[in-house]
Amino acid sequence: MSVTDVAASRPAPPRAGGTEPVISLRNVSKNFGAVSALTDIELDVHPGEVVALVGDNGAGKSTLVKVLAGVHQPTSGSIRFDGRDAALTSPSAALDLGIATVFQDLALCENLDVVANIFLGREKDAWKLDEVAMEVRAWTLLNELAARIPSVREPVASLSGGQRQTVAIARSLLLEPKLIMLDEPTAALGVAQTAEVLNLIERVRDRGLGVIVISHNMDDVRAVADRIVVLRLGRNNGVFTPDDSHNDLIAAITGAADNSVSRRAGRRAVHEEGAQ
Ligand SMILES: Nc1ncnc2c1ncn2[C@@H]1O[C@H](COP(=O)(O)OP(=O)(O)O)[C@@H](O)[C@H]1O
Ligand SMILES: [Mg+2]
Repeated sequence: MSVTDVAASRPAPPRAGGTEPVISLRNVSKNFGAVSALTDIELDVHPGEVVALVGDNGAGKSTLVKVLAGVHQPTSGSIRFDGRDAALTSPSAALDLGIATVFQDLALCENLDVVANIFLGREKDAWKLDEVAMEVRAWTLLNELAARIPSVREPVASLSGGQRQTVAIARSLLLEPKLIMLDEPTAALGVAQTAEVLNLIERVRDRGLGVIVISHNMDDVRAVADRIVVLRLGRNNGVFTPDDSHNDLIAAITGAADNSVSRRAGRRAVHEEGAQ
């Protein structure tokens, strides 16, 4: 059975519902001096759920990811991770808890091969630098992700954009996180490579991880997200599903006052009043 067959025969991914969130934010705010980058953000991500974080430039997406990655400290609010209050005081504290981040620049070393990149910076960890063990571990991870990498001994310089994203994601899974955050994973990719990375995100979800994906591409977001969380000017501005209309989603992102979401909410309010 090939790697592709294994992927195709998997059961449908577990959907959120009934499970406790792996991460839960309440009233999280972040000020930079006089600038309010985030105000009273609420966000839940469940195990086995892909949440897309969308919003216009300056909406606060990167700041939110950096707060969860331990890069920035929130000014106020509470964060629970895996059922406990979490102090994400540094990137290593976030990583140790089980929050992995793939930043947009990927931070791979071009001249090193796939194995070396996957283990980069882990030299002090328990694995020791046994080349054979590292190669086996790298292959296993990539196979589990149904990744199409020709050889783990290729230098990263010779890989496509999609394959690089794959290596960066595999690398972030090495520490077996419970939540993974991907910043614009398909931004630089063509159609086929984008499909490959979206598949990979589904494989990661199938492993039971919570996934946060930042993306500007609404087609990608609809293809892979279970829920779509809109930020606007540093605040929550609605939660959508891929079944909601494109216009509603765009209206929430741009802040158009008259849109079918507000109209629907208005109709619902009238209906509920009428029912009482
Ligand atoms: N380090 C910083 N210092 C001051 N202001 C910042 C900093 N980082 C982000 N901001 C501001 O916070 C707001 C949100 O930015 P950002 O999180 O980068 O948005 P997005 O990623 O959605 O485009 C913007 O007004 C931005 O200028
Ligand atoms: Mg940003």
